[in-house]
Amino acid sequence: MKNNNLLITPTDHGVGAFVENIELTENLSGAATDRLRSALGKYGVLFFRDQFISSQEHIAFANKFASINTNRFFPKVEGYPQIALVLKEPDETINIGGGWHTDHTYDKEPAMGSILVAREVPSQGGDTLFANTCLAYQTLSHKLKASLVGLKAVHSSRHIFGPQGSSHLRGHETATQDSTHPLVIKHPISGQPSIYVNPSFTIGIEGWADRDAKTLLKDLYEHISKPEHIYRFKWAPGSIAFWDNRASWHYALNDYHGSRRLMHRITIEGEALSN
Ligand code: SIN
Repeated sequence: MKNNNLLITPTDHGVGAFVENIELTENLSGAATDRLRSALGKYGVLFFRDQFISSQEHIAFANKFASINTNRFFPKVEGYPQIALVLKEPDETINIGGGWHTDHTYDKEPAMGSILVAREVPSQGGDTLFANTCLAYQTLSHKLKASLVGLKAVHSSRHIFGPQGSSHLRGHETATQDSTHPLVIKHPISGQPSIYVNPSFTIGIEGWADRDAKTLLKDLYEHISKPEHIYRFKWAPGSIAFWDNRASWHYALNDYHGSRRLMHRITIEGEALSN
């Protein structure tokens, strides 16, 4: 039983950890699930290699952590409505997730995270960047930390997925979500403070003029995306990244035009966030 002896090794880039001695085709024990959950809270993203799991095994793994949140906007894997297709064909130029973001912040109880399985990857390119929003909080100046106390950020799905939205997955009548969350949250697993805003879905700061909010958000975005907070993950078929939306950002690089990249994503439910 490999899964009783997990090896969890942090990357040397401030975010993420590799999980070895694990076989996700096997049923995961409660103890192993607890270790993974706690490592996810600590490192923000867990990376796995050579996990050639079926769609049923993907669903079973996700269900160990929380119930599945079926994404309203993405196409689905045939026969598995719980699994979103993250696909770019050789003749397409736009990819999914090609900018810094964290998923579902427009929901009142934002998704905890996603489990992305690589099915087909280009021979070059198509890496994903991850940034650590807890570490980014720690490395803010004392003055800036103090200025964030009590602030709430406003998030929306409308400008991305709504009929006039910027995503090619737009046009859905279901893009009606807006929500407000503390700008700095207490991470639900680790208890660490985390900066909870992102360039894709955050549209302002409650009670602030647009111009002032944009200035502060831009400063925070530049800070979070500093190289020392980032790890670049290179995919191979069977690779998995399991990220926590409350502790990390991600960015799917779009540098593989002419090649196919096919990923399966399951997003799992989270909870209301507080500070
Ligand atoms: C996403 O943003 O969910 C996609 C990430 C990726 O394809 O690497």
